[in-house]
Amino acid sequence: MAGKHAKLCVDGGRVIELPVLEASLGNDVIDIGTLTNEGYFTYDPGFVSTAACDSDITYIDGDAGTLLHRGYPIEQLAEQSDFLELCHLLLNGELPTPSEKDAFAAAVAEERHLPESVAEMVSRFSPGAHPMGMMTALTGALAAEYHDGLDITEETHRLATAIRLIAKMPLLAALTYRHPKGLPPPPRQDLGYAGHFLHATFAEDESYEVNPVIARAMNRIFMLHADHEQNASTSTVRLAGSTGTNPYSAIAAGIAALWGPAHGGANEAVLNMLDEIGRPDNIDKYVARAKDKDDPFRIMGFGHRVYKNRDPRATVMRRTCHEVLAELGVANDHLLQMAQRLEEIALQDEFFIERRLYPNVDFYSGITLKAVGIPTEMFTVIFATGRTPGWIAHWREMVSAPYKIGRPRQLYRGQTARNYVSLEERD
Ligand SMILES: CC(C)(COP(=O)(O)OP(=O)(O)OC[C@H]1O[C@@H](n2cnc3c(N)ncnc32)[C@H](O)[C@@H]1OP(=O)(O)O)[C@@H](O)C(=O)NCCC(=O)NCCS
Repeated sequence: MAGKHAKLCVDGGRVIELPVLEASLGNDVIDIGTLTNEGYFTYDPGFVSTAACDSDITYIDGDAGTLLHRGYPIEQLAEQSDFLELCHLLLNGELPTPSEKDAFAAAVAEERHLPESVAEMVSRFSPGAHPMGMMTALTGALAAEYHDGLDITEETHRLATAIRLIAKMPLLAALTYRHPKGLPPPPRQDLGYAGHFLHATFAEDESYEVNPVIARAMNRIFMLHADHEQNASTSTVRLAGSTGTNPYSAIAAGIAALWGPAHGGANEAVLNMLDEIGRPDNIDKYVARAKDKDDPFRIMGFGHRVYKNRDPRATVMRRTCHEVLAELGVANDHLLQMAQRLEEIALQDEFFIERRLYPNVDFYSGITLKAVGIPTEMFTVIFATGRTPGWIAHWREMVSAPYKIGRPRQLYRGQTARNYVSLEERD
């Protein structure tokens, strides 16, 4: 066998040779695609060692705490670039030239409206409806509206879908805020991406002005969430998309996967946890609970499946959090102080050091969003808005080349074949 290969020794010495595919960064992968012909599957619950695709979009080195989008470090992008540039980069592989940037921003601005049926659907939800349930349903409704004539084999259709989603997601997010408050649909305006989101969410009349510090923070929050390679929601988008389904519904599936507290729901869970802890002198008790094997309590916003050193997004988010609290005059916020105390205690504790559990991006994004005025149950909606370019870039990457329907195998451990027993014969 030419090139690198691995040898798998099974069944008392039978050797199976498997090709090794080389990565440009990070682990090479053993191609096990032919193993099924040898009578074996591989077993990897949670996909901790399994690459399900090849991708050029994002690279993470969890041990080094590195996150690169198309090769650019997230810290540089978050400090020097903006969300729409990052969307262009994720989708097209390169930062835009000035004229490409203007054209991209104009194409997004052009799509800042919702089909009437989708806007009307919002009023059907009860005032207490969870914003993530609404986002899932509203994105599904976009699939219903943008289906006829959509041909995912056409590159122009794929790009139009990406632009539509990037443009419409902040409007859907804004409606999940406005609906329970009984606010009318937001007025149209021509602000930048983050400013437009803030205006669409909070403006009740002409007098609303976007605070540039808050707009910069929102821009960073969207950027820090824009893509994270094959995480649970992106893999969900790819898996759903691999059936050839409508891309808006694949994104709706991604939004559903994001909702869980082990994924996008973590920043909401951080705030709920800080509320539950209540006072700084309760922190020790809760840290002890997090360490107790018999207690399901975990410190939300700590730990990461991939980052086992530091989450590079958390460093930027921490600084942004301080900027926002200072700007809004709430730097003494008791939640922030509790979060800092919790971080100090946990970072010195052997339990967390040994397990390499560090604060992740959600630890500080929740406090920042709360200060901005975003309701806790809407935090994951902000994450979904930021993650949309990543999801759609992965979907587009997949469907732009030959791909297979995703169909995992299983290790079956149930009953072997047996005959049906009639009801009368069962005791
Ligand atoms: C993110 C997360 C799901 C990653 O999980 P994982 O890589 O599968 O790690 P595991 O669940 O196997 O945990 C490894 C060990 O650390 C412990 N641990 C992990 N996260 C912990 C946390 N947040 N608080 C306390 N202990 C934690 C586990 O109990 C386990 O201990 P053990 O080895 O003694 O059994 C997990 O760290 C977590 O639940 N964090 C809180 C939720 C969160 O912030 N999610 C957002 C991710 S962006």
